[in-house]
Amino acid sequence: MRRTGTYATSTTSGETVQAFVPHALPPIEPVLSADCFEAANRVAELALARLASVAGLVPSVDWLLYSAVRKEALLTSQIEGTQATLVDLFDDEAGFAVGNSDDVEEVSNYLRAFRLVQDNLRDPAGLPISVRLLCNAHCLLLAGVRGSGKQPGELRRSQNWIGGTRPGNAAFVPPPAHRVADLLADVERFIHADSDLALPPLVKIALVHAQFETIHPFLDGNGRIGRLLIAALMEHWQLLPEPLLYLSGYLKQHQSAYYQALSAIRTQGDWEAWVGFFLEGVAAAASEAERGIVAIATLINNDRRRLLAAPKATPASYRLFENLPLMPRFTIEHARQKLNTTFPTANAAVKLLEALGIVCEQTGQKKNRSYSYQGYIELLTLVG
Ligand SMILES: Nc1ncnc2c1ncn2[C@@H]1O[C@H](COP(=O)(O)OP(=O)(O)O)[C@@H](O)[C@H]1O
Ligand SMILES: [Mg+2]
Repeated sequence: MRRTGTYATSTTSGETVQAFVPHALPPIEPVLSADCFEAANRVAELALARLASVAGLVPSVDWLLYSAVRKEALLTSQIEGTQATLVDLFDDEAGFAVGNSDDVEEVSNYLRAFRLVQDNLRDPAGLPISVRLLCNAHCLLLAGVRGSGKQPGELRRSQNWIGGTRPGNAAFVPPPAHRVADLLADVERFIHADSDLALPPLVKIALVHAQFETIHPFLDGNGRIGRLLIAALMEHWQLLPEPLLYLSGYLKQHQSAYYQALSAIRTQGDWEAWVGFFLEGVAAAASEAERGIVAIATLINNDRRRLLAAPKATPASYRLFENLPLMPRFTIEHARQKLNTTFPTANAAVKLLEALGIVCEQTGQKKNRSYSYQGYIELLTLVG
């Protein structure tokens, strides 16, 4: 059996435990054999290429990104127990009151952290993928009510554990705190090494994510930052021109297999099973995203045809329609601002789309009416 790390004696909460210290990447003795990933990697890369291509079905990729990045934000937070929904998030962004505002804040924080990382990677003067960038992202992720006591933006200074009620009966005790910085520096080196290793980028991403979770460098937020790192590496190695993949959907759906595969790296030296699981997940998530895009393109094109056939359509109603994928929940005032027009003009545009059955009113009231691009929201919230 391959050994993937060593144990170090560590004390926490008055108990002495064996903390796992992973070996630096890549796996050795034996090295990962191409037989175990070649076919699955080809399937996953093809699925990603199809996803990149299908985005051309709509006139603006922003239409698709709006929902894709929010789905990822939501699903990665749901893996960690957040109780928000996609509609909560849309409502929050539209300025409508939402009940579970702490949950929605967590999702919004993820979006901020994601944007920070993306902005840096796309700016020639920005930070590269690095411990510093991840700490900055962590700072945004844990800002506010729930995270503020968990040292936002800082590597942990104490021993932590996963599963179990106390360190002594934990499922897994990550490395001692004083090892965390060096272990992360190893990960950073692995990412930026111009390696002539025969490891394809998706396999390297699988290795990096698992290694990050094994190091568990923060007091909280390790799952979300580790999955953000997956998206960042997809960008870094140019596997997708835009973040259209929401892999957390697959990870959430197969959560116990996800955690088991991470554990088996440690307990059975089994890097191969994790890499296989990850590649399958990428392929499945990319195919699902592809189907979603086809459905969105179909819906929007059908709705557009109805609008084009409407004798009473106005310039403002066409312009409003083109904005719907970026503001699926809205008020007349939002429409007015977006179209930079008068209230009566915006009102007439909304009413026309309502009469065509493209948008519908939510409140049933005379005042403070709010509208929804319902067909679109239903597509986005379909499970699987
Ligand atoms: N057995 C395990 N071995 C390694 N990592 C694990 C294991 N079980 C769970 N994890 C990782 O730990 C994450 C949870 O860590 P946590 O710091 O609470 O992150 P977050 O606050 O984002 O929830 C999971 O999402 C998963 O990625
Ligand atoms: Mg947590």
